[in-house]
Amino acid sequence: MTESTRPLIAISRSAMPGDPAARLSAVADIRLWPKRTYPSRAELAELSAGAVALLCVNGDPIDVEFMARCPDLRLIALASTGYDSVNVEAADRQGVAVTHSRGTLHETTADLTFGLILAARRRIVEGDRYVRAGKWTHNDLDLLLGHDVYGATIGIVGYGQIGQAVARRATGFGMTIVHHRRQRGDDQHSRWMELDDLLRLSDVVTLHVPSNPTTRHYIGERELRLMKPTATLVNAARGAVLDEVALGRALREGWIGSAGLDVQQQEPNPDPEDPLLGIPTCVVLPHLGSATLAARERMIGLAVDNIVAFLEGRDLLTPIGGPAAAR
Ligand code: DGY
Repeated sequence: MTESTRPLIAISRSAMPGDPAARLSAVADIRLWPKRTYPSRAELAELSAGAVALLCVNGDPIDVEFMARCPDLRLIALASTGYDSVNVEAADRQGVAVTHSRGTLHETTADLTFGLILAARRRIVEGDRYVRAGKWTHNDLDLLLGHDVYGATIGIVGYGQIGQAVARRATGFGMTIVHHRRQRGDDQHSRWMELDDLLRLSDVVTLHVPSNPTTRHYIGERELRLMKPTATLVNAARGAVLDEVALGRALREGWIGSAGLDVQQQEPNPDPEDPLLGIPTCVVLPHLGSATLAARERMIGLAVDNIVAFLEGRDLLTPIGGPAAAR
């Protein structure tokens, strides 16, 4: 049997909408992770050994050790926007370019953010559980009272593509919109504000900052104690930006009113004993921000486009980082 002269591409997930393996197999040999469970650190390195490109997702551990075990690698194409699990500097030092799926999921994630705002403030999940438990015996006027979303003040923490997409939706709800990010300045929808002022003023605080060492526990006890007792906190960013222990106390002791989490510090989190799950005013989802078929096809399609551009020697479409990415 003659050995293939085609480049080898590794793919770290077996279930990927849009079937990237089929598209890429026209131009390369494919090594596809075969299981529904994720590859471990060692398995990911084994899968990627000898490959020139890796199609993977944020959460796959791309660190110094991984890079050392994959000297043939030239491109890491993430089918995710976030890249907090990738050591971009280490990749760059080894001449490996990294791309991500910027611009493919901000509207989809903003939709889900609004879903969480409505679910938490209007007690939608509690109401559903109440009906299913056979408790709906009276239409009492004080049953599961929540707080209005229409006309409330929303504070958007992190004002990139997703934060701005949330602001556009908030205009339709007649909300007063304020935001905080490093770069000062208002836009047509929203007024810039210091974080502490935003926390004191807002009925809804929604987090959209990236996860990095400077944003770890960006919202902790001090910040939660500044919020209104009726306020709703939403986290559709990353678990690490919110101190979950402090959030549990804030909800149980009434420093704030409710919370909606799409992300958690530990993901995936199959622990039914997780303390946050015992708090009825906390809505918790399994990281569904970008989980629509169309968004996932866009994210994965862009990763494939980046790999094809790389194989054809063209400029990468959405590179992150330094010289290795500036092909
Ligand atoms: C991303 O792309 O960073 C999202 O969190 C994945 O859903």
